Amino acid sequence: MPHSLRPDLQCPRTSTYAGGLRLSRIVAGMWRMSEWGMTVEQRAGFIEQCLEMGVTSFDHADIYGNYGVEGLFGEALRARPGLRDKMELVSKCGIKLLSPHRAGHSIQHYDTSAAHIVASAEESLRQLHTDRLDLLLIHRPDPLMDFDEIAEAFQSLRAAGKVLHFGVSNFSRHQFECLNRRIPLATNQVEFSPMHVAPMFDETFDGLQDLGVAPMIWSPLAGGRLFSGSDAHAENLRLVIKEIADRINQPFASVVFAWIMQLPSRPVPLTGSGRVEAIAVAVAATAFTLSRPDWFTILRAARGHEVA
Ligand SMILES: NC(=O)c1ccc[n+]([C@@H]2O[C@H](COP(=O)([O-])OP(=O)(O)OC[C@H]3O[C@@H](n4cnc5c(N)ncnc54)[C@H](OP(=O)(O)O)[C@@H]3O)[C@@H](O)[C@H]2O)c1
Repeated sequence: MPHSLRPDLQCPRTSTYAGGLRLSRIVAGMWRMSEWGMTVEQRAGFIEQCLEMGVTSFDHADIYGNYGVEGLFGEALRARPGLRDKMELVSKCGIKLLSPHRAGHSIQHYDTSAAHIVASAEESLRQLHTDRLDLLLIHRPDPLMDFDEIAEAFQSLRAAGKVLHFGVSNFSRHQFECLNRRIPLATNQVEFSPMHVAPMFDETFDGLQDLGVAPMIWSPLAGGRLFSGSDAHAENLRLVIKEIADRINQPFASVVFAWIMQLPSRPVPLTGSGRVEAIAVAVAATAFTLSRPDWFTILRAARGHEVA
């Protein structure tokens, strides 16, 4: 067993912005929870094991599991009332899916109106069986979004004590800065992995680093394609990462998480697994860094060419 998977390893914590929200350095993503087939007891047990490792932050969205995951998680919190105060709850709003659970939706669309943001946050509170969200994100940039209206909705949720911090997801640098000028944002949650490196080159990370705001990272393992992808790009990346992992005696996925967290914008990766061992492998990555040559070897395989 690599030294870094020792059972006493605790996940460190970080502030996503100065004086602001504190999250665990690894956040447990709940998108796939409805696929895990867990009983309430198993869900509560999984949450407890995450907390024991120091993974105290849990990422949700109203729409996960066809509007079902928040309710599954909320059931576990109802079964173990002591857990809520040991964690940070993140959720998102702004996408309206066609769903039997939302009979009024006639087309899949975005809605970042103040009325929808407030109603969605209040529904998340009911589903999660809590009185507050630690962080609420706008899930996707909406062509019809009005930055002033979103900021006002955020202010009113904060004044009511229903949401403590606010952020966005999948926003460009410019969109982030427009809203951040109106209300300080805690994060921009974006896709990033060795199979999706755009935020490193489209100013997303540079802009956040400049503001001292940490991005959150979704699909850090490319949704599992780093393990299972059969195209030449995935296969080559897999070989390159495996060579480094074997040489430095760390698990494959730990090397990917470490590669991501080494960026100076201080990315906070989300896990996507319901296996406690997979969360532990992510936490293990907080205990080591890669050499510059190893880091650039992964970048070269990610982009398919040398740096100039
Ligand atoms: N803001 C957004 O727009 C957005 C979009 C997508 C996701 N998210 C958030 O990001 C979180 C993470 O995204 P993600 O689930 O795509 O993350 P990911 O870590 O890139 O992918 C998770 C997938 O990888 C598999 N996996 C993990 N370790 C593995 C291993 N050692 N061997 C083989 N397969 C492995 C998992 O399977 P097992 O379950 O079998 O481990 C799971 O199917 C989500 O839960 C959600 O909270 C946000």
